[in-house]
Amino acid sequence: MANKVNKKYLVILTGAGISAESGLRTFRDSDGLWEGYDVTEVATPMAFERNPQLVLDFYNMRRKDVAAAQPNAAHTGIAALEKDFNVTVITQNIDDLHERGGSNNVLHLHGEIFKMRSVKNINKIFDIKGDINVGDVAKDGGQLRPHIVWFHEQVPMLEKAVEVVENADIFVVIGTSLQVYPAASLINYAPKHCPKFIIDKNIPHAFGISNITAIEQPATIGVVELAKHLSQLLSLPNE
Ligand code: APR
Repeated sequence: MANKVNKKYLVILTGAGISAESGLRTFRDSDGLWEGYDVTEVATPMAFERNPQLVLDFYNMRRKDVAAAQPNAAHTGIAALEKDFNVTVITQNIDDLHERGGSNNVLHLHGEIFKMRSVKNINKIFDIKGDINVGDVAKDGGQLRPHIVWFHEQVPMLEKAVEVVENADIFVVIGTSLQVYPAASLINYAPKHCPKFIIDKNIPHAFGISNITAIEQPATIGVVELAKHLSQLLSLPNE
């Protein structure tokens, strides 16, 4: 959190909705079906045990989709806020569109599609651009799997994310249905006094959060509006 004294600390929690305008499907806009798959059928350790190739193929397809997608104006608009703010993005997304959009501090809560690891070691992570198949093993002999946090698995970055949110001067939520825990609970750690914004095409129920401004817009338009609100905040005298 360098520069915190000079710039306000802006923390942005994002979900699938921010990448929707890049052509990547959200989860719950399509009844829990993702490209025809029931997410709970493929995004669990049990599914991987039952049918590892199905799960690997599912993520191999996701990897291709993400590689073909481009960051949109919401991703680049967030990166541009680094000029005036000390920004950390906490994303539930496994894509790398925040990074490619120019954001420098991105914390991936649910893993990353371009990373993989052995089933035997959660800590040794490798880059992967192509496919992973059954029989592809790491040096430790363990089957390789995507570095993705599946349902029923721990969220190793959660503690770090909580610490980030607790230190926010301004907190923003973009494009998440806030239905998946513990990610959704992060919003409760934002300091009471800090201004909060939520951008979504259909604003989800925000659990009686105080001091929150709703911007009911697609992310690309919402981030432009957000930037206007934030520049107004900057022009206010410091308390
Ligand atoms: N702009 C802004 N918001 C949008 C847009 C858009 N163009 N399109 C859709 N949305 C909103 C929807 O209204 C919804 O509130 O994005 C949200 C997407 O919600 P989900 O599909 O539930 O995605 P998310 O909240 O990221 O899911 C959380 O669930 O399956 C797991 O691990 C997976 O990280 C994922 C987690």
